[in-house]
Amino acid sequence: MHSLRTLPLLATLTQFLSATAEPTIQIQHQQHHGRRSAHLAEDNDDTPLPVVIWHGLGDTYTAEGIQQVGQLIEEANPGTFVYFIRLDNTATNDRRATFYGNVTEQIAKVCEDLAAHPILSTAPAIDAVGFSQGGQFLRGYVERCNTPPVRNLVTFGSQHNGILDYRACTTTDWLCRGAMALLHGNTWTSFVQSRLVPAQYFRDPADLDSYLEYSNFLADINNERAVKNETYARNVAALENLVLYIFEDDTTVIPKETGWFEDVDGDETTPLRARKLYKEDWIGLRALDRKGGLKFKTTPGEHMQLSDKTLAEAFKEFFGPYKTSSSREPDVAGEL
Ligand SMILES: *[C@@H]1O[C@H](CO)[C@@H](O)[C@H](O)[C@H]1NC(C)=O
Ligand SMILES: *[C@@H]1O[C@H](CO)[C@@H](O)[C@H](O)[C@H]1NC(C)=O
Repeated sequence: MHSLRTLPLLATLTQFLSATAEPTIQIQHQQHHGRRSAHLAEDNDDTPLPVVIWHGLGDTYTAEGIQQVGQLIEEANPGTFVYFIRLDNTATNDRRATFYGNVTEQIAKVCEDLAAHPILSTAPAIDAVGFSQGGQFLRGYVERCNTPPVRNLVTFGSQHNGILDYRACTTTDWLCRGAMALLHGNTWTSFVQSRLVPAQYFRDPADLDSYLEYSNFLADINNERAVKNETYARNVAALENLVLYIFEDDTTVIPKETGWFEDVDGDETTPLRARKLYKEDWIGLRALDRKGGLKFKTTPGEHMQLSDKTLAEAFKEFFGPYKTSSSREPDVAGEL
């Protein structure tokens, strides 16, 4: 079923890459079949919505893997304008900003960039794909700004319910290792909360008090504090689809079920639909689910090991012209 197991050469290459490079996106290529062109003719008479991509920790908007994702989007829906979200125009600083910075300020900057962009700001809506932390940051964009509005948001291996640990660094990646040392040292100090990106979505269900008091980002966008922001819930509920992919064999993000908003406390896992966050609809997920727009998906492999087949399927189903939007059947396979 998937390329990782059937192509030993690629698997070896992938292991080699993950042992020597940053934990960035890796795409397994497969042969294309002639299917696509036939498909195209039906919905080709309208311009596809622009797509924005937000990359993950340790990655840059110029990285080859992310640029390839852009190509796959364009192949799935020719004519798509693709924008690569960046916090700085230089690759080094953009990568650095995945580790260090105040996420509230980072999202505010992205809001300004998108709202001022000549193409994005004039589109009726945009689609969005977020990899790893880029996924929850795009959700932050939807909740806090959403100008231009997002139609479909697809996230891969994101940390929507926070992390307990992030095993992301290679032995020689000092930027990454420095960040992780900080994460485990002084997570809740305002020094760390205002500067270390992963600390701003750190969440330990065994110590929710500290989290609720000090979390600079996640506790806010998940509306977990006493005072809820209704705009957040309204904006999420206004999405057409929120598509949540987790990686089956993810050992980098602890716990991986965070990608489905599950609450993992020791041996106890509470699926989203059994949580208060959902039942009291703090952020609009229940409303979205009731109209069939909340999708739980898995994809084989370790964190960020994506096949171009998975990506192409997602892009064909959820991106494209405004009117020919995606399926709306409720997805119940994932949970409960
Ligand atoms: C809720 O969020 C919106 C969007 O970020 C913001 O403009 C508004 O001030 C917030 N409301 C409250 C009560 O904090
Ligand atoms: C992060 O930035 C926002 C906006 O400037 C600010 O209100 C907040 O206090 C900062 N967070 C921390 C922990 O300093």
